Formats: sequence, structure tokens, C-alpha cells
Amino acid sequence: MAAALSPDQNTQRQPGATLSWNDGFLLGFAPMDETHHAFVDCVAALQQCDEASLPETLAAFENHAVAHFEQEEQWMQDTSFPAAQCHADEHAAVLRSVREVAQMLRDGAACQVARELAEALAGWFPGHADYMDAALSHWMSKRTHGGMPVVLRRAMPGIATAASDSSLQAGTTR
Ligand SMILES: [Fe+2]
Ligand SMILES: [Fe+2]
Repeated sequence: MAAALSPDQNTQRQPGATLSWNDGFLLGFAPMDETHHAFVDCVAALQQCDEASLPETLAAFENHAVAHFEQEEQWMQDTSFPAAQCHADEHAAVLRSVREVAQMLRDGAACQVARELAEALAGWFPGHADYMDAALSHWMSKRTHGGMPVVLRRAMPGIATAASDSSLQAGTTR
């Protein structure tokens, strides 16, 4: 599996737990946040679906990921975002892994390979969102609104956030 899918970047989820959306994922650029919510749902489906539906669930994830990554890469291209290539390279590595696993399933591999991919995706996403997507979100928000996004996040028990002592936190992100 590609090195881009390191399972150790997730600080908010126990290994093996189903990925679920929480406000900690909000980056402040609404179109990206909506896509990321859909990404989380697609990964959760891949973690939880029955074995018979794994191939179609993986195909649905791939369709989502292609559109998701193309949209971000289009934003970067349209706005001359710096360091777009390393972001796009990480997307490409993920898609390579997804396609490798889909081929392995077609070749008769055990379903476990798709479950391992789902776990790797669940581990990969928070780190990617935190670093690469957050920078793009800020960039797009600045261009759209002329400033950094204001992100409202509900406090979540057991989940560390920048200012976890308030029931609703408002502030600029990173
Ligand atoms: Fe993204
Ligand atoms: Fe991205």
C-alpha cells in the first residue's frame, strides 16, 4: 500500500474505530467541508458494509475520491496555489492504493484487504485535512471573503481542540 496512507496520523480516533464526522474536521471553506463530510461517510461505509457489498462500496469511494481530489486540484490550479504539486501527489498516491485494492478484490483477494484500506484511509484523512486541505481552505477563503475563515466548532468530550473550555468555539483556524 502506498506510503501516503500511514495509519498513524489520526489523533482523534482509536485504531479500528469507525471514522465519524466531528466538528474538529471543519476547515471553514464550506464547499470543502461538505466534501469532507461525504468523504468521512464513504470511509465509514467501507469500514462497516457487509462483505458482499465491499466491491461496490469501494467503487463508490473511488468515485467520491476522484471528484473530491479533482475539485481541490482545480481550485489550486485556478488560483495559482503554491505547493500544489505535493498536495496533488498525495491525492494520486491514495487513488493508486484504492485502485490496487479494487484490482486485488477483482482478482479474488480476501475482503480483509479492503478493510485494511479503509482503516488506512481513516488514519490518513485527519492528517491530510489538517495540513494540506487546511492550507487550501484558508487560501480559498481569503480569496473568496478577503480573510481567514471563522470556524464554529461544538466542544466534543474527549476530543482536544484549540480552545476546549467553551461549549461553542469561534475563531480563526490555524
Ligand atoms: Fe480534501
Ligand atoms: Fe486534499
